[in-house]
Amino acid sequence: MKLIIVNDLKAVGLRGAELVAEEIRKNQNLVLGLATGGTMIPFYKSLVNLFRKKNLSFLKVRSFNLDEYVGLNGKDKRSFRYFMDKNFFSKVDISKRNIHFLDGNAKNLYTECKNYENEIGELGGIDLQILGIGKDGHIGFNEPGSDFNSRTREVLLRETTRRNNAKFFSGKEEKVPKKALTMGIATIMSARKIILLASGKSKSDAIAGALNGEISEKAPASVLMRHRDVAFIIDKNAAAKLRK
Ligand code: PGA
Repeated sequence: MKLIIVNDLKAVGLRGAELVAEEIRKNQNLVLGLATGGTMIPFYKSLVNLFRKKNLSFLKVRSFNLDEYVGLNGKDKRSFRYFMDKNFFSKVDISKRNIHFLDGNAKNLYTECKNYENEIGELGGIDLQILGIGKDGHIGFNEPGSDFNSRTREVLLRETTRRNNAKFFSGKEEKVPKKALTMGIATIMSARKIILLASGKSKSDAIAGALNGEISEKAPASVLMRHRDVAFIIDKNAAAKLRK
């Protein structure tokens, strides 16, 4: 495990983007797993900047996003698909047909999840997965208690998660969907390389739990300690509770 501690959220995003750029330069066909959330906004800004400076192309990159709310379609402003279109896909040269997304409005959610796993497999698996972390230690929408063997599936969201994400629903927690589709813990762990980004005091317990606590399904991110190529890029505040 590699731990990189930087000053603030902006620096987390910049360092994360630089590492992604390095991987794309080594392999322009990279299969890239992507994440959403407030932490990711400066990260996508930095990636867009690299693209605009003509330092980086996403033309052949294939992407798979981690998760999506159940019941929202991709045009809904609160969906993760919309977040990605707005903050990243519409601003770079990624090819539309190379973007893979879970459809939270699919008729059969079980089949939707199975097909997603198959698509990842058909492209040879995820080369690099980007992750955020929840205050409760979740990765993707794998809440505490998620089976380490879980694959892409429908899940129930916890209250803490819905409260955190209310910022994307005019501050109204009751408007945040109760269910989501998410890649599973085992899906995430199958990625060849993983980079987790975190910022702020509110994430310090989750970070300490992942890095210093026991590896347990109670702390989903702790499973990452079993991965052989994982980097945590976090700011000082998120690192505040780490054992010295
Ligand atoms: P956040 O979400 O960046 O909005 O805090 C992170 C997450 O829940 O994974």
